[in-house]
Amino acid sequence: MSGSTVLIVDDEQTLARSAKAFLADHGYEAEVATSGEKAMELLENLQPDVVFADVRLPGMSGLDLLKRIREFDPVIPVIMLTAFGSIEGAVAAVKLGAFDYVKKPVDLEELKLLADRARENRLLQQELSYYRRRATRDVGFPAMLGESPVIRAVLERARQIAALDEAPPVLLTGETGTGKGLLARAIHASGPRAMKPFIEVNCTALPATLMEAELFGHERGAFTDAKESKPGLVEAAEGGFLFLDEIGDVDLSVQGKLLRAIEERAVRRLGSVRERKIDFRIIAATNRDLEREARQERFRKDLYFRLAVIVLDVPPLRERGQDVLLLTEHFLRAFNAKYGKVVREISPAARDLMLSYPWPGNVRELSHVIERAVLWSRGPMLDVEHLALTSPTRAGSADGGAPRTPTNADVEPGASTGAAALPPPGVDLAQWEKAVIERALHEAGGNQTKAAQRLGISRDTLRYRVKKFGLQP
Ligand SMILES: Nc1ncnc2c1ncn2[C@@H]1O[C@H](COP(=O)(O)OP(=O)(O)OP(=O)(O)O)[C@@H](O)[C@H]1O
Ligand SMILES: [Mg+2]
Repeated sequence: MSGSTVLIVDDEQTLARSAKAFLADHGYEAEVATSGEKAMELLENLQPDVVFADVRLPGMSGLDLLKRIREFDPVIPVIMLTAFGSIEGAVAAVKLGAFDYVKKPVDLEELKLLADRARENRLLQQELSYYRRRATRDVGFPAMLGESPVIRAVLERARQIAALDEAPPVLLTGETGTGKGLLARAIHASGPRAMKPFIEVNCTALPATLMEAELFGHERGAFTDAKESKPGLVEAAEGGFLFLDEIGDVDLSVQGKLLRAIEERAVRRLGSVRERKIDFRIIAATNRDLEREARQERFRKDLYFRLAVIVLDVPPLRERGQDVLLLTEHFLRAFNAKYGKVVREISPAARDLMLSYPWPGNVRELSHVIERAVLWSRGPMLDVEHLALTSPTRAGSADGGAPRTPTNADVEPGASTGAAALPPPGVDLAQWEKAVIERALHEAGGNQTKAAQRLGISRDTLRYRVKKFGLQP
């Protein structure tokens, strides 16, 4: 705990002194101010990690002090001390953003635990902002490679949108692995809000009830496990972007609230009556056909129309011509460096193959293929056998002996013969399974439910395999 500073603001000398001594015993450096005015004087030099403040102070009230501290530094956690009879004040303070409150007479152990928690919370926030800054530095538009006219057109529009401080939501559509996540980060990183948060929410990961609490936050006691109040991710995005990845997976019950938050630019935490105004921009991404789902009432139409004011459709790799080679060179450089290899050239046959292969997993698949190829390489030449794939259009051709991705004919257990196809020589069962799943996902437009149905397995089984094979993050 060493190095952490606590400021105690209380005119009750005995309490302040014993708290100071107890916290000092536990590694905190503690200072006491006997009024709000004195606390404000100390604040700048002291830069405390946590402030304890009595609700009732001589002169400036505890609530006013809280507001002043918030103006001075919005992230210092402030914990209110409250005597019998001033509990309403403490509750009001929590609504105004106090971290928590403790009842008097104060249990010193509880005080220390709260200080620990507040401090950890603050460290976490600092860490988050560190990652935000780092993400900003690493990914700009330069990270989005592509010279084909189709991707150029998308990037050009994305750049225009990124330059704006205010803009309607942006919806990124496109098959899995086309770079929607990368593009969302690039839009954030190259615009005026680059230094503000970029909060990413994977909408697939959470069940509806949790999703709601995560997005909108909750007050203490809003539900059984809500031991303390917590801001939601929308609040965390203040000033910056909220990136709703896989928006098509948001439960219908949450969609209405989300729409409201976007339209009103405000949220109400669960269990709270207070509405908080939040300035945030939205980017959503999906590899599903949301328009169709909206038509079929599987996605709220009003939310769809709100999100789809600006749609950027990221094209699949197979439509991006020579970009495959450009990206291959990029991944070769990256994986050579990572594995200490020297693959620098692409054989003509490998080049042809890559240009004709349909890349159902798009850029992500390409990066995996190149990674594997670099790992297997023995010299400077990238050749067909390193790629472990064969375009369906070339199946059975001269280099058809190379490990390959199943074609339709392979996957459908020989309609005429009734026998299942065996993997081509050189492909083991796991690779074959992976390729079949990749193909099913591709044909289902990335929709896991449909792909699972097509394969006759449960969605959970499919998800497990998808994870195991690293097909989708
Ligand atoms: N134009 C590009 N230049 C360089 N790398 C790219 C490009 N597009 C995608 N990538 C890389 O490909 C991988 C997949 O991209 P990303 O995760 O953004 O795809 P996605 O469209 O969000 O996929 P999903 O729908 O499955 O979430 C990432 O590692 C990303 O860095
Ligand atoms: Mg993604």
